[in-house]
Amino acid sequence: MAGANKSGGLAGVTAGSTSLCTVGKEGAGLTYRGYDIYDLADHACFEEVAYLLLHGKLPTKKELDGYVSTIKANRGLPDALKTVLEMVPANTHPMDVLRTGVSFLGNIEPEGDFASQNKVADRLLSCLPSMLLYWHRFHVDGVRIDTETDDDSISGHFLHLLHDKPPKELHRKCLDTTLILYAEHEFNASTFAGRVITGTLSDMHSAVTGAIGALRGPLHGGANEAAMALISKFKTPEEATAGVLGMLQRKELIMGFGHRVYTTSDPRNAVNKRMSKALAADVGNTTLYPISEAVEKVMWDEKKLFANADFFAASVYHFMGIPTCLFTPIFVCSRITGWAAHIMEQRSNNKLIRPAAEYIGPGLQNWVAIADRK
Ligand code: COA
Repeated sequence: MAGANKSGGLAGVTAGSTSLCTVGKEGAGLTYRGYDIYDLADHACFEEVAYLLLHGKLPTKKELDGYVSTIKANRGLPDALKTVLEMVPANTHPMDVLRTGVSFLGNIEPEGDFASQNKVADRLLSCLPSMLLYWHRFHVDGVRIDTETDDDSISGHFLHLLHDKPPKELHRKCLDTTLILYAEHEFNASTFAGRVITGTLSDMHSAVTGAIGALRGPLHGGANEAAMALISKFKTPEEATAGVLGMLQRKELIMGFGHRVYTTSDPRNAVNKRMSKALAADVGNTTLYPISEAVEKVMWDEKKLFANADFFAASVYHFMGIPTCLFTPIFVCSRITGWAAHIMEQRSNNKLIRPAAEYIGPGLQNWVAIADRK
């Protein structure tokens, strides 16, 4: 059928343009606004990357200091939001908590005029970790935490709220780096969902709420939690190899492997893998890293499938003492930058996103009165 996407899932279809990111582009690889991901991971802090995505250029020292102060100043939660978070049941998945939290924030702090879109983006970047950890600590530890800390970085703030003490620098730095790696990835499913919502001239909270819903699934952001569930099942690398071989024979998906755009490797994996090894040594865990490596090897040997950004992110977070159910929400705390930048880009040259469908249903039917139907 003319125009139909034969392989499904819009694979290979160029659905718009962006100046934010290249993914696997020949001669460029993964870049944010022209900067190589490895340079950003090695030299930048997450707030610098957030500024780059949201403001279009790397900040000067003065601009970065100002931006860090703005983010710090916006971490407080309104009482009404705290009340809602306390009412969300303890057994809710934290992704659903963030979805509700962002949606509710849109009620009490509506965006209104698009002229305030940068303020809304900064507010969400600041308060997503607060929202998540206020709910988490309330339900897990039975305490109402103060979400305003002295930590300059979002990574430090996150780990401080979670563990009730400032983190080790190695842990903070590793979390910061994963936030950089997760920040932006072109027209992935959640970003595209956000752009579709934005295309109707809806507000930023609605677009982000929808994006969180898309990110939640295990084929997208939820893969980091699923990868943790997988590696936790095995006690030794040998057991992991045999277990994954069995899963492949049963045609089961191995979460944290494969990618729609990359064909031979995900550039983010090398960085996550290096951090996983360093953190394993730091916390004295001698099993999880070799198990992860064994899974990676068997996936490559058997299927030529490579670990994506989510696979080693799982052990990185685990080694820092982060509960598995918070892995995908951390992705949200980072990707809010890419989502917001895409929302602004979509608005800057908006066109309603409304593709066509190939009709595969029945031909014209004769109307049958209800009494005559069989
Ligand atoms: N485990 C086992 N097999 C996999 C696989 C995985 N993680 N990823 C892809 N494959 C297989 C598919 O079963 C399919 O095999 P077939 O041709 O025999 O049917 C083939 O590789 C092509 O995969 P397909 O599902 O068509 O690719 P896609 O582009 O539609 O999907 C993903 C991309 C990311 C959704 C897919 O690789 C996947 O489900 N990965 C696991 C979830 C994940 O890690 N998501 C995070 C992505 S960053």
